Amino acid sequence: MSQAKSSKGKGSSVAMWAIGGIMAAILALVGTLVLGALAQTPVGQSMGQTLNALFGTDTTHATWFVTRSAGIIAYLLLWFSTVWGLGVSSKMLDKVLHRAFTFDFHEFISLLSIGFLILHVVVLTGDQFMPYNVAQILIPFISPYRPVWVGVGVISFWLILLVSITFYIRSKITMKTFRVIHYLSFISYIAAALHSFYSGTDTPLPMAQLMYVGTFLVVVFLTAYWLLTLRSAKKPVAPPKPPAPPPAQPRNPYLRTQPMMNTPQTPPARKPNGTGRK
Ligand code: HEM
Repeated sequence: MSQAKSSKGKGSSVAMWAIGGIMAAILALVGTLVLGALAQTPVGQSMGQTLNALFGTDTTHATWFVTRSAGIIAYLLLWFSTVWGLGVSSKMLDKVLHRAFTFDFHEFISLLSIGFLILHVVVLTGDQFMPYNVAQILIPFISPYRPVWVGVGVISFWLILLVSITFYIRSKITMKTFRVIHYLSFISYIAAALHSFYSGTDTPLPMAQLMYVGTFLVVVFLTAYWLLTLRSAKKPVAPPKPPAPPPAQPRNPYLRTQPMMNTPQTPPARKPNGTGRK
């Protein structure tokens, strides 16, 4: 019954995300059409010139800007997904949000991160300055640019894919396998952070450094908290204390032998004459 309820809840939340996705796609299509029409007008042409002056949209820089910004968004989403996952595992979010929502949201941010990652790497193949081929994107350490740190990014990419696949085959694998694979998301986050920091053009900027150090420290802090909650959950529970003995009963001067503690005091048996004397 409760299983049926939870699958119904999951079904409705999936339907909500699907409707949201379709709405976003329709909005993007309408927006593109409006922008296309606007570009034909004199106002649109002058706007295009301004954009070109600002972002170099008709230069080799265009793809470079897109790949870098997509990389940074993918990194932030992966960080958010890691932080959210730690919040779910340490039951921190249970006080404020429903578990069904926190699980679905965790899955959603991971998938969104993969979407931006695909943009990050696909754009590299169209780069006019240093085009990448498919092998250089999929095989670690053969990149023409900073092979070690880009290779670390490729490993992170594969790990993120592996972890995300387990969301869909969860019912077919054991909980232990799911957990072990899920722990790999720590390695994928650390690899992504190292890749972003050491291969990014923006890393020398103080803002970028603050972002990488700040986000990394949040993960370290939450991981420590999660490990503490795990330890306290594993501690053996102390057996319940035995109930306190009842207070001693006053001595009965009419009895030769005093009753045992807890045994009700019985009055002396009455003689048939009704005096109770022996
Ligand atoms: C197949 C895997 C990957 C490849 C081939 C790849 C490739 C690259 C390259 C060539 C750069 C240098 C761009 C520049 O000139 O600045 C770069 C930077 C970057 N990548 Fe990746 N990457 C991959 C995976 C990832 C992953 C998994 C993430 C994070 C989730 C990521 C996030 C970033 C970030 C944030 C930058 C720095 C952008 C900047 O500051 O300029 N990349 N990547």
